[in-house]
Amino acid sequence: MRRVTGEFDRCATTEEVVRAFVPYPLPPRDPPLALDGRVGELLVTANARLRELELAGDLVPSIEWFVYAFVRKEAILSAQIEGTQATLMDLLAVEASSEAPVGADVEEVCGYLAAVGYAWDQLVAPDGLPISMRLLSQTHRRLLQGARGAHKQPGEVRRSQNWIGGTRPGNAAFVPPPPHRLPELLSEFERAIHDDSDLPPLIRVGCLHVQFETLHPYLDGNGRLGRLLITLLLRHWGLLTRPLLYLSLYLKRYRSEYYRRLSAVRSDGDWEGWLEFFLEGVAQVAEETVDTARALHAVVEQGRKRLLGNDDVTVLSLRLFELLPKNPILSVNRAMELLSCSRPAAAKALDALESAEIMFPRDHHRRNRVLVFDEYLSYLRQDTELDG
Ligand SMILES: Nc1ncnc2c1ncn2[C@@H]1O[C@H](COP(=O)(O)OP(=O)(O)O)[C@@H](O)[C@H]1O
Ligand SMILES: [Mg+2]
Repeated sequence: MRRVTGEFDRCATTEEVVRAFVPYPLPPRDPPLALDGRVGELLVTANARLRELELAGDLVPSIEWFVYAFVRKEAILSAQIEGTQATLMDLLAVEASSEAPVGADVEEVCGYLAAVGYAWDQLVAPDGLPISMRLLSQTHRRLLQGARGAHKQPGEVRRSQNWIGGTRPGNAAFVPPPPHRLPELLSEFERAIHDDSDLPPLIRVGCLHVQFETLHPYLDGNGRLGRLLITLLLRHWGLLTRPLLYLSLYLKRYRSEYYRRLSAVRSDGDWEGWLEFFLEGVAQVAEETVDTARALHAVVEQGRKRLLGNDDVTVLSLRLFELLPKNPILSVNRAMELLSCSRPAAAKALDALESAEIMFPRDHHRRNRVLVFDEYLSYLRQDTELDG
């Protein structure tokens, strides 16, 4: 045991008395965090990789593509951690059809997109809400929009006892604080974000994520909101000015270690072990994200060259091409909408993209032809397919 990070509060449920964990406020103390050694080294690397990601964002000419694509990638991965079965292709296909999402899984991912869009706008707007429980609850409301979340008190801090793992609090892996303690605990949580601190911002981000999961303030969506909080805090402390880091890739890849590390903070006071894991992830994903951004950029450049050298190139096909990174799946209808042109003109533009081997048919129903920007999607899709 490295340190004690909280105390147990006996709470009675209808059938039994259980021990709910009530964490001490941040920052970790007794002893204070050990930032020399491995944590310190990983911190230097993670900060350097984040800076490279930030710079890569400054250098590419069409940053909004990457923001568009990477936010969707994070949305899918974060939802998949707890078993949502939607893929990036499902999401993009829904968006391409401009119809309402079918199925609770895709709907859930659309909720995440609404949530991140809302929270980000608040943070960057001069008169927007600062990071606070008010902002998080408003974000939660959007996250849990749709059928599945409707019964889980969207936008409201829980008023009942919950637990993680197991079928009842008595056999759960973890029982978060009783609801009557939450008002006080959540004010402390807000204070930990806004108080002066000597700790490096990235260390604070890592600690705040754990604290949020330990408090588990909502009936559902705590994992997704807690991961979204990481993105918001990176922005809040100026570490990344666009939501480009999809850390959920790493947390999904090492899901059991993720959960084990969260638990070890509570059971052993092992903040350093969590921070090593977290910083390693930030460095790894930031580096992979820069590589993916480069690869996507190259695919677009090469595609444009092929189109310009193709006999079927038209002004409309070039215009459509420039819209592909945000619309990598296209039907003739969608192309008509995007170009505000007639059906034959849209079909002709799509033909040119197909003949230049940029777009490929997704299925062969000629009547409802759907084309995909295959090479682009193959990079973006990495690690977002369902296993098995
Ligand atoms: N042992 C643990 N201790 C603390 N938090 C945990 C533990 N295991 C899992 N978690 C967190 O709880 C989340 C699941 O909570 P939940 O409210 O269902 O969120 P979501 O609906 O977004 O998946 C996980 O994604 C993880 O972040
Ligand atoms: Mg859940």
